[in-house]
Amino acid sequence: MKIIRAKDYDAMSRKAANIISAQVILKPDCVLGLATGGTPVGTYKQLIEWYNKGDVDFSEVTTVNLDEYRGLPRENEQSYWSFMHHNLFDHVNIDPNRVHLPDGTNLDAEAECRHYDEVIRQLGGVDLQLLGIGGDGHIGFNEPGPAFDLGTHCVDLTESTIEANKRFFEKKEDVPRQAYTMGIKTIMQARKVLLVANGAGKAEIVKKAFFGPVTPEVPASILQMHPDFVLVGDEDALALI
Ligand code: GLP
Repeated sequence: MKIIRAKDYDAMSRKAANIISAQVILKPDCVLGLATGGTPVGTYKQLIEWYNKGDVDFSEVTTVNLDEYRGLPRENEQSYWSFMHHNLFDHVNIDPNRVHLPDGTNLDAEAECRHYDEVIRQLGGVDLQLLGIGGDGHIGFNEPGPAFDLGTHCVDLTESTIEANKRFFEKKEDVPRQAYTMGIKTIMQARKVLLVANGAGKAEIVKKAFFGPVTPEVPASILQMHPDFVLVGDEDALALI
């Protein structure tokens, strides 16, 4: 595990974007695993800026996102499909055919999850997986509890995740109760994993996940075992380590 300290959110975002650009420069046809949530927004902004300057080219890149709310159509503003388009895809030269997210409108969870795993398998796996971390240590939507060896699956979101994500919706009742998420097994198979964390609110969980025991109760803790895991955090998120 490698830990990179950044002085604030902007510096964290620049460092994370640097690592992603390096991946794209070294392997222009790489597979990027992407994440949603507030934390990576600055990273995406920075990538867009460098794309506009001509420093990074996404024309051959393929993306697979971590997760999607079950039941939300793409067009819904709160779908992760919309999030990714607003925050990155609409602003860079990524080929729309190379963008993959689980399909939230396929209510046949088993079929959708099997299909998504097959998409990732056919792409040859993920070269670089970007992650945020939930307050309870979830990555993607892998909530505390399930085994470490799952592929894509359907999850019931915990009360704390629903609470944390309600800020993106008009009211709490609008937050979907389930999601399709890439499993920990798939995340661990990524050749490189980059996790971004910022703010004092993440300090406790960062300490627990990366300096505590490896346990399914703290899903991100498994990353301690990944052979090429980089944590980029700002001073506040890394304050306790
Ligand atoms: C959601 C996403 C996660 C993300 C988490 C933390 O639950 N599914 O991928 O890491 O939120 O979000 P934030 O970065 O806004 O704290």
